[in-house]
Amino acid sequence: MKWPEKYGEWAIVTGASSGIGRAFAHDLAQRGMNLILVARQLAGLEEVAAECNSWETKTYLCAVDLTEPNGIHKLISLVGDREVGILVNNVGIVARGLFTKIELQRQLDMVTLHCTVPVALTHHYLAQMLKRNQGAIINISSVAAYHFQPLLTTYAATKEFDWKFSKSLAWELKDTDIDILTVVPGFTKTAAYEAADWKIDFDSIPALFKPQNPREVSKKSLDILGKQRSIIVASFMEKLIINANYLLPDRFMEFILSKMFV
Ligand SMILES: NC(=O)c1ccc[n+]([C@@H]2O[C@H](COP(=O)([O-])OP(=O)(O)OC[C@H]3O[C@@H](n4cnc5c(N)ncnc54)[C@H](OP(=O)(O)O)[C@@H]3O)[C@@H](O)[C@H]2O)c1
Repeated sequence: MKWPEKYGEWAIVTGASSGIGRAFAHDLAQRGMNLILVARQLAGLEEVAAECNSWETKTYLCAVDLTEPNGIHKLISLVGDREVGILVNNVGIVARGLFTKIELQRQLDMVTLHCTVPVALTHHYLAQMLKRNQGAIINISSVAAYHFQPLLTTYAATKEFDWKFSKSLAWELKDTDIDILTVVPGFTKTAAYEAADWKIDFDSIPALFKPQNPREVSKKSLDILGKQRSIIVASFMEKLIINANYLLPDRFMEFILSKMFV
């Protein structure tokens, strides 16, 4: 069965103009979905819409700042009565540094974008999906969710929220036809680092930590949608660290990770 019939005609992608969200937009268009693309800057969304033209998909662009007090309501009213088959809760920002040195508003924006927005959009669109007993929700967490992450304190905590929210929701819906997928990307080459003023020389990163490209994340995730409830798309070392967390004492992991990341 084609995806628009299986899930519903439209896919919403938040944070669709760049990085992982942009890659999801491409891969969903390739699978026949019409796209509701969300970000603050219209110009970026127009570029993605033009890129998706070759798949003859319909696009609807929503230039909304989701940290604004009425941002979520604005998006929901723009989407109107379009049948939302897939919701990709992707929008995210990074702030790196000592907790006390990062501006409070930036940290609160992370909490809004990574916690409030996915909960509100999921609550709204899941109700409609349940009425039709069809749909899918994809939540983007991070490998940072799994372990202690100094200098990314608020970011890592909000990504753990995404992970628990998504995994628990998937269990609650296991007897329905709604597919909930938790995506855990590792280090991925996107504009997020530049936006956070975090200078990374991607070319000099050792092979075992090599960042992936956003399309690997979206393609692998969509390939297993409906077959698995979660996926980690990360380098060999990141997967090793995730597993070590379950096996080794906290103090030892803190020592190792602080040497690696601080
Ligand atoms: N990159 C990685 O290594 C990595 C690893 C693990 C998980 N992730 C997760 O993957 C997701 C996407 O990250 P990314 O690296 O692809 O980011 P990115 O390339 O920086 O893209 C962020 C997107 O969000 C939009 N956006 C930012 N603030 C917004 C706001 N207030 N309202 C609406 N839209 C907003 C941006 O467009 P505008 O600026 O036009 O608004 C852009 O489309 C995030 O949830 C992140 O935590 C990333």
